[in-house]
This record gives sequence, structure tokens and C-alpha cells, in this order.
Amino acid sequence: MARIDGKCALVTGAASGLGRAIAEKLASEGARVTLTDVDRDGGKAVADAIGGTAQFVEQDVSNGDRWAAVWEAASKDQPVDTLVNNAGITIMGSIEDMDYEGWRKTFDVDVDSVFWGCKTAIANMKQTGGGSIVNIASAAGIRASSVLAAYNAAKAAVIMLTQSVALHCGEQQNGIRCNVVAPGTIKTAIIDKVLAQVPNPEETLKGFVASHPIGHLGEPEDIANIVLYLASDDSKFATGATFTVDGGLAL
Ligand SMILES: NC(=O)c1ccc[n+]([C@@H]2O[C@H](COP(=O)([O-])OP(=O)(O)OC[C@H]3O[C@@H](n4cnc5c(N)ncnc54)[C@H](O)[C@@H]3O)[C@@H](O)[C@H]2O)c1
Repeated sequence: MARIDGKCALVTGAASGLGRAIAEKLASEGARVTLTDVDRDGGKAVADAIGGTAQFVEQDVSNGDRWAAVWEAASKDQPVDTLVNNAGITIMGSIEDMDYEGWRKTFDVDVDSVFWGCKTAIANMKQTGGGSIVNIASAAGIRASSVLAAYNAAKAAVIMLTQSVALHCGEQQNGIRCNVVAPGTIKTAIIDKVLAQVPNPEETLKGFVASHPIGHLGEPEDIANIVLYLASDDSKFATGATFTVDGGLAL
């Protein structure tokens, strides 16, 4: 039997990379999945490839006004019980290099999105028996880098917001768990975009590998597997926890 038969999940940023792998994994283990992304063609293609009950809904996660309609679309056949706040961007820069526009954009997409997602999920899940919120932060939210000023701060904010949400839901006894995953470097489009921002991409990539004690980068499925656990009832005692899946990067 599939591990999450009968569950209903909403995965943001699912047109590529980790979001895609997460959506594929949750669907393959029995969940009804709604994929959202700003990339309409990419997201639709992934939903079509998954097939079955998977559907795509266009969404800019930083737009708070859009969340209610997206949630309604995802809940049209059954209530959403799993939200994966995955969509995110990385804009590189030290505190001296980073302009305010880059800082603001990073927080809009990486932090405000999680604020809106958690608020929307709690408002709805508390009326439908609870659920699991999984936020995707980063090992960069635990371990700083001189060239990731905005991203470090944004992902640390996601980790702390997760803990606050978990405590609140515990106090309310509303049946909602909230956990955060902190991946190490996983070879996806976001890494290609990071490498495109540096003068020496090959050296930078070697440096990424060297910073992981395990000796190699991760694969999207490494993250999809931990999200599957958090979506499933196997994780029913886990809340407010940070799951580092990072080849030892944050040590
Ligand atoms: N790949 C890594 O090494 C790594 C490591 C740690 C954390 N993460 C985090 O994992 C998440 C996914 O990253 P990825 O590696 O799959 O990146 P990716 O670039 O492959 O995918 C990100 C997806 O988010 C979408 N997106 C971007 N802005 C959006 C917005 N405003 N609204 C909706 N969708 C939007 C993009 O279109 C894309 O499909 C991000 O939160 C990222 O910070 C990635």
C-alpha cells in the first residue's frame, strides 16, 4: 500500500528542482497533489507528466492576495492536509554588494511566502482535522556565508517562523504540525542560477562539493524522501523540528 494514500497536498515551486521531485514523490505514494509555480508552462508540464489527479495552479507565492483562491482550487475535491512551502530564490551578495531590491525580493519570495502559506494553511486545516506544514529552508539558514547575506537571513527566518507556528498550533491543539527541512546543496536549477552569478563557476562548484563532509552534493529525491515522511502519519510526533538533510554541511 502507498504510504500516503488518501492525503491531499499542495506543493509550491513545483515546476522544477526540489518542488518537482517532492510533487512526484507525494503523488507516487498515493496523494492527490496540486502543484503551483510562477512558471505556468513548466508547472503544467510536470502536472501532466504526473497525471492522475495531479493538477497545476499558477501562483506567485509572495502575493498574499492569491493564496485563498489557490487553496480553494487545491481543496476542491478534498481538504488539503499537507502544505509544502518550497518555492524560493537565491540572490547572491555580501552585505556590501547586496542592494535593497535584492534583499526585498529575497524576503518577498523566501519568507513572506511562508508567512502567507502558514496563515492560509492554519485557517483552513484547523477546520478540517489538522495537517502537516513543511517549510523548505536551507542549511544556509543555519550556517552563514559571506556572499549569501539575504539568503542566510531569509532561511534563518523560515526556521524560526516554523518553530513559532509549531508552538502556536500546539497551544491551540488544532492538529496541525509544522516542520522545516534544511537541505544542503542539491543539484537543481537554483544552483545553476547561483553559478551563473559568480565569476568562476567551476571553482565555486568544487567548493560546494568540498563543503559537504559526505563528499558529494545531494539529489532532489533526498529531500523528497524526508518530505514524504513529514507528510505521512509516520511523523505524527514531529513538530517544530529542523530536519537537516545536507551531507553534514551545517556541522
Ligand atoms: N537546490 C539547493 O541546493 C537548495 C538547497 C537548500 C535549499 N533549497 C531551497 O529549496 C527550494 C527549491 O529550490 P530548487 O533548488 O528546487 O530551485 P529551482 O530554481 O529549481 O526551483 C524553484 C521553483 O520555484 C519557482 N518560483 C520562484 N519564484 C516563485 C514565486 N514567486 N512564486 C512561485 N514559484 C516561484 C521557480 O519557478 C522554480 O520552479 C527553495 O526554497 C530553495 O531555497 C535549495
